[in-house]
Amino acid sequence: MTTEFKGAADLAARFPAGFTWGAATSSYQVEGATGADGRGKSIWDSFVNEPGRVVDGSNGDTAIDSYRNIAGDVATVKALGLNSYRFSLSWPRICPDGDGRVNPAGLRYYSDLVDALLAEGITPWITLYHWDLPQALEDRGGWPVRDTALRFADFALIAHTALGDRVKHWITVNEPWCAAFLGYASGEHAPGRREPAESIAAAHHLMLAHGLAARAIKAADPEATVSIGINFYPVYAATDAPGDLDAARRVDGVQNRWFTDAALRGAYPEDVVEDFKALTDFEFILDGDMELINAPVDVLSVNYYSRFTVTGNGGSASASAAPTGAGSAWPANDHIGFVPAGLPVTDMGWEIEPSGLTDVLTRLHGSYPGVGLAVTENGAAFPDKLDDGRVKDPERLDYVERHLAACADALDSGVPLVGYFAWSLADNFEWAWGYTKRFGLVYVDFETGERIVKDSGRWYGDLVRRARTNREAE
Ligand code: FCB
Repeated sequence: MTTEFKGAADLAARFPAGFTWGAATSSYQVEGATGADGRGKSIWDSFVNEPGRVVDGSNGDTAIDSYRNIAGDVATVKALGLNSYRFSLSWPRICPDGDGRVNPAGLRYYSDLVDALLAEGITPWITLYHWDLPQALEDRGGWPVRDTALRFADFALIAHTALGDRVKHWITVNEPWCAAFLGYASGEHAPGRREPAESIAAAHHLMLAHGLAARAIKAADPEATVSIGINFYPVYAATDAPGDLDAARRVDGVQNRWFTDAALRGAYPEDVVEDFKALTDFEFILDGDMELINAPVDVLSVNYYSRFTVTGNGGSASASAAPTGAGSAWPANDHIGFVPAGLPVTDMGWEIEPSGLTDVLTRLHGSYPGVGLAVTENGAAFPDKLDDGRVKDPERLDYVERHLAACADALDSGVPLVGYFAWSLADNFEWAWGYTKRFGLVYVDFETGERIVKDSGRWYGDLVRRARTNREAE
C-alpha cells in the first residue's frame, strides 16, 4: 500500500501534531433498526413512507445496520487508521416521545459505541442533532415551535449526563440551514413542509436549541469542546450586474452569515433581516434569545462540499436540490437562480472547487478570529463499482486529496484548523436520494452489508498513518 500513494508523504507532512483525523456519519443514515428496543419514531421514518419523497423509494429501516454492528463500525474506523469518529445521536432512540422519558436501551447503544471507540484509541465526536427530530415533537409543531428548542436542551443534558464522562467533543446542531430550509421551505427533507415564513421561525429555534444545549454542556463540563456544524459555500455573482451582485449577497447572507453571526456575534445580519421582513415580523424572537444563542463555541464545525454561482434573474434551482423538492430553499429569495460555472461536478451535480475550502476557512478565521475551526464534513459522491473485490474511485481520491491540500493551505496562512472528517466513513442512506448516491470511503453492498475499503479510503488511511507516525513521534 505504501508505494502506491506517493503524494501522501508530502501532504501528510503539512499537518501538525495532534491533528484530528476522522470520518463522519449520522444516525438515520447508518443505524437502521428503526423499530428496535424502544426507539421512537423520527420525522424521517414518517417522511420516507410518503410516496415520491425519496427518489428510489427506499428508507433507513436497515441502512447499513450500525445499531447492530458496533464492532464492524469500530473496525472500519480502525482499518483506516483514524484517531476520531464523528457520529450523531438519534434523539428518538434516547427520548422516544421527545420529552424527558428516557429509553435506557438507546443510551446503552451509544455508551457501548463510545466505549468500543475509546478502547481502540479513537476519540468520539458526537453530533446531537443530525435531522432526526422525534415525530412526537413534529406533531406538536416541530421546529417552528419554540418548545422544540427547550425539549432539545433537555435531551442534550440527558445525553451529556450519560456520556460526558467519556465524550469531550459535542456538536449541537448539524447544518441548521438544511434542517430549517430543506425541511420547512423547499420540503426536500423531512418533515417536507413548504411554509417559507415558518421555516424562518424554525431556523431561529434551531439556533436557540444550539445556544441552550451549548450552555448546558459547558455548565456540566467546562472542559468540553462545544461546536455547531454549518455548511458553507463560496457564493459568486454570475455577472457584475446589480441584480446578480445582490443575489450573491442574499445567498451568502442566508447560507453563510445568518447562522454564524447569530452563534458567534449574537445578532442576525441586518441585511438578511431586511430581506426576510418580506415574510415575517420576527415575533418569535423573544428578549434575551440572541444572548442565549451567543453561547461559548470552542470550535466551529465547517461542512464544505461545493460553491454557488447565482443570478437575480431567476432560473434553475440549486444543484443541491433533490428532484423531489418543489418549493424554494431560499425563503424571500425566489427570484434567485443558480447557474453552472462549467466546473467538473460530482455525482450530486455539485461543482468541485477545492480552493473554495481555503477561502471559506480563511474568511471564517478573519470574521470570527477567536474560534477554532474543524472541517467536519467534506467528500464526494461518485457511482462506484465493485470489481473483483476492489473499488477504484480515482475521482473521490482526487477530491479528498485536493481538499486536504486546501486545508493545508489554510493552515499555512495561520488558520487554527484542528481536524478533518471525511464524509462519509461508509456508503449510506443519502436522504432524499436514498441509496443512489455513494459518499463512503468504504463501499457497502446494500444487499449483504459487506464492506470493502475503496481506493480513496486506502489512500486516506495511508495519509493519516503517515501524518500520525511523523508527528506523534516528534
Ligand atoms: C450534508 C449532510 C450529510 C450528508 C452530506 C452529503 O449536508 O450533513 O448528512 O448528507 O451532506
